[in-house]
Amino acid sequence: MAGYIYFKTSGKRIEIGPEGEAHVLRTSIRYECDLPFKCAGGLCGTCKMHVDEGMENLSPVRKAEQKLLGDLLNEGYRLGCQTFAHGDCTISWDPAQQQGKPLKKLADFWEKHGGRARLSPVAGE
Ligand code: FES
Repeated sequence: MAGYIYFKTSGKRIEIGPEGEAHVLRTSIRYECDLPFKCAGGLCGTCKMHVDEGMENLSPVRKAEQKLLGDLLNEGYRLGCQTFAHGDCTISWDPAQQQGKPLKKLADFWEKHGGRARLSPVAGE
């Protein structure tokens, strides 16, 4: 088993499925972990999260993160919509960073298709 994503701000811990990795934002949407988001495509920065532990268990930084986060990358920040976890990690965020609602068609799509492809059932707290 690959491990868990611990969404510290919402207090939910989700097991990474047998595929060995999980998209952080899709996991949050699927299991209602409340990581803020809007575009889900590396454009807005709403899904900014702090990696409290387990940075080594996340996918490499992508260009969209370099562009939106800049020096914050060195302070442990990543974008949930650009990041996969393949081992234990703990993330947190400022709940106030959600401004406006996410694009509904994206939320609906990922609710239907996003999480199931990669995740095993919830192991919540
Ligand atoms: S949700 Fe817009 S950058 Fe991640």
